[in-house]
Amino acid sequence: MEGVIDPLMRDILCSINDYDLCVTEFIRVVDSLVPKHVYYRICPELRDDGSTGKDTPLRIQLLGQEPHWMAENAVRAIELGSHGIDVNFGCPAKAVNKSKGGAVLLKDPEKIYQILSTIKTSINDTSVLSAKIRLGFDDTSLFNELISAINTSGASELAIHARTKLDGYNPPAYWEYINNAVSQSTIKIIANGEIWNRETALECVKKANTPHLMLGRGALSLPNIANTIKYNAAPMSWLELQKLLLLYSTLELNGDKSYYFSSRLKQWLKYLKLQYPQAEQLFQNVKRLNNKDQIISMIKSIN
Ligand SMILES: Cc1cc2nc3c(=O)[nH]c(=O)nc-3n(C[C@H](O)[C@H](O)[C@H](O)COP(=O)(O)O)c2cc1C
Repeated sequence: MEGVIDPLMRDILCSINDYDLCVTEFIRVVDSLVPKHVYYRICPELRDDGSTGKDTPLRIQLLGQEPHWMAENAVRAIELGSHGIDVNFGCPAKAVNKSKGGAVLLKDPEKIYQILSTIKTSINDTSVLSAKIRLGFDDTSLFNELISAINTSGASELAIHARTKLDGYNPPAYWEYINNAVSQSTIKIIANGEIWNRETALECVKKANTPHLMLGRGALSLPNIANTIKYNAAPMSWLELQKLLLLYSTLELNGDKSYYFSSRLKQWLKYLKLQYPQAEQLFQNVKRLNNKDQIISMIKSIN
């Protein structure tokens, strides 16, 4: 997730959960081969073995509209060690949509087919190609066409965020549309949207008719959510979360982006307060603080 699941956050979340896969923030592809140093900045784990946490494979996410350059960049990402390629057709950002990338492509299933099939013929056969879509742009009228285009493109996995671009992030997520996609597909369908805990995950599995789930904001608001779903683990207590926040603070402050520590922490607290009332209290107490020592003693002080 752009701007939130950075290398440190994914390392932490994948260390405390048994995730099958993690996707990077996106690399924007316009009309050139993106330099290697950008790949390493977005995904420093490529210098190691392209995995994070407890050996969770990482997949580079590309966002763009030009089939040739998307394919060239996909080849580069695989050569650098990405575990497959994920293509984003769901991003609602105005700047990205204006230059014909992200969700705006949901209006053009043929273009999505061209992008994916050009990538697939360029990368080696063993590399997984996945796509991420919403149900449509303004409405769902092209949904079946999109599913058919992606099924025949050579992509082998499709994650569906069960809302249109127009729906934004407003509840509900229309999981029953994913069920329609499952019944029309030969490829792996992954359900996404409004999964906040084990209960909503089980409901989604039932309505979407797929066992494969992708987590979004829920991964940040309940840090061990994947293990609550996969292994019926107890949701992390506030005490455990407090320890995690202190670990995160130490690692963030020791990292090369320590300058951003207070804003990054406040950003995470905005998600955590959806599940933990103590996080709301902590957020209120730190929202005007910038001094790291004061922030850390505040984290320790909330029970
Ligand atoms: C801050 C933020 C950043 C996101 N970045 C990406 C992204 O880079 N690529 C992508 O495919 N989806 C991105 N998404 C969408 C999520 O992956 C997910 O599809 C969406 O939030 C719905 O799932 P949820 O209701 O569980 O959060 C982002 C969402 C948010 C809130």
